[in-house]
Amino acid sequence: MLGTCLNAHADAERELGELLYRDKNLSINRNQSCASCHSDQPSTRQIGGGTFSEATGFVDPENVVSNTPVSRGSVLGKTGGLNAPSAAYAAFSPIFHWNSDEELYVGGQFWNGRAKDLQSQAGGPFLNPGEMAIPNRWAFVERLQENPQYQRLFNEVFGIDLEQIPNYQSAASNAEPAGVAAVYDAAAQAVSEYERSPRFNKFNSKFDFWLAGKTQLSSNELHGMNLFNNKAGCAACHTSESSGFDRQGHPVPPMFTDFTYDNIGLPRNTLIPGNPEPDLGLGGRADIANAWPDGEQKGKHKVPTLRNIAVTAPYGHNGVFKTLEEVVHFYNTRDVLGEVESVTDTNFGISGWPVPEVMENVNHDELGNLGLTAEEESAVVAFMKTLTDDYSETGADDQVPSGTASPFALVEVPQIPTVLEMKVPGRVQMTARLGKYYQLEYSTNLSGGDNWQVLEMRRFSTNGVPFLDNDTAQSPIRLYRAAQLPQ
Ligand code: HEC
Ligand code: HEC
Repeated sequence: MLGTCLNAHADAERELGELLYRDKNLSINRNQSCASCHSDQPSTRQIGGGTFSEATGFVDPENVVSNTPVSRGSVLGKTGGLNAPSAAYAAFSPIFHWNSDEELYVGGQFWNGRAKDLQSQAGGPFLNPGEMAIPNRWAFVERLQENPQYQRLFNEVFGIDLEQIPNYQSAASNAEPAGVAAVYDAAAQAVSEYERSPRFNKFNSKFDFWLAGKTQLSSNELHGMNLFNNKAGCAACHTSESSGFDRQGHPVPPMFTDFTYDNIGLPRNTLIPGNPEPDLGLGGRADIANAWPDGEQKGKHKVPTLRNIAVTAPYGHNGVFKTLEEVVHFYNTRDVLGEVESVTDTNFGISGWPVPEVMENVNHDELGNLGLTAEEESAVVAFMKTLTDDYSETGADDQVPSGTASPFALVEVPQIPTVLEMKVPGRVQMTARLGKYYQLEYSTNLSGGDNWQVLEMRRFSTNGVPFLDNDTAQSPIRLYRAAQLPQ
């Protein structure tokens, strides 16, 4: 019974997350949602007499169709500076951290990892002027208040009454009222919970069915896989081995990324509107640049998953490559072909490549001169095409008829982190409960004593993770996720 209750609760949170993810009213001009740039709807295509759904890569369909490198924002004429990556399988990226054994950064969200996890990522786009462009969190809450479904679901999932927050328009002062930050944070959490759902993490590509022994790869695809793992060296970063077992003991299929960062020497894409200065990636973040004054992290971008890669063109953080053939040819010949001026040169990729947009830290050890023949290049591409989800819906394989469930449907997607950290020594105790959220109080007296206080909201977010932003004023009563409370 309890299990059923908790599942119903998780379903409500995902329902809320899905509504938020698809809601164009959450952009300033009511014309853009998360799904506009990370489409979660398959498109349909006609083959012979039938209609088949084509996999969605959770990228901007406009980029895929017209090969534009960046996405338009809600405000006319505004565009971002980077290619929208896929939101599928993003839930598997670990929290951004430094791995001291390997001596490199791992995980996080965005090309430069600046959002440490999915929740902090989901808080960005609504207020980003180049994206959904809502002026502030309070104005965001006002859009939520318009919709009775949000009234119901925020109450059901988070115990939050949206009506209690004063009206944004009629407000005399611009000071953010109590509760706004909590609502905003809860919205980001619900969106991230939707991104953890099976819809984003399907594991039902041809490769997955092959891995489970349910179908065969062609000899060319197998040849490509062998090259990918060996001669071409792709698997050194785009991991093609199982990433182990989940807590229930299910094998987790490969993610085709190790979530590390590298500079593969992409040429500058002068076709990005406004031709902005090249993005320095990891090394362009102030915190990382300060830690590495000699620029050791410049030009490094996160290794993207190659799942769904055939349906997520263009490629690279700046969208400089239009096809997979071009990408593989680049890896193979970057250091041996001649040089051309820019991406607009008609000989781009034919007689040469432009110089890397960031010269520092270009990886010359693992790529740039792979010695692949043209036939080997195309086998690697054929292998990457086996990584597209919804293989059963292509109608191409009698062994995997339409509607066949993923062989890895039970794999557990990493959960919202629940670690509690306190900046001072102290004890935490639970004083109230709503659904899976707990109200906590803390004492800085280690024995508990009698000086319990409600957790200071500046220190903790809904997930029990401390806020970095000390100005976040919030209501004194907050509810916390239940799991993993300190004893
Ligand atoms: C206008 C287009 C646009 C909109 C709208 C948008 N995104 Fe993005 N998204 C991007 C771009 C571009 C990036 C890469 C930006 C960067 O790395 O700095 C990105 C990055 C991401 C990532 C990181 C993926 C990874 O592998 O690092 C996730 C997850 C994501 N977006 C989810 C969302 C969610 C959730 C929303 C809605 C709240 C949203 N996006 C709205 C364009 C958009
Ligand atoms: C040393 C690590 C490394 C190796 C080896 C490597 N890659 Fe990558 N790959 C990356 C990084 C990092 C990026 C993103 C770079 C950027 O955008 O600046 C990337 C991007 C890509 C992309 C574009 C992904 C997207 O979503 O835009 C494709 C496709 C790709 N790699 C395929 C391959 C293939 C095929 C091989 C082998 C021939 C290979 N990679 C070898 C690190 C690596």
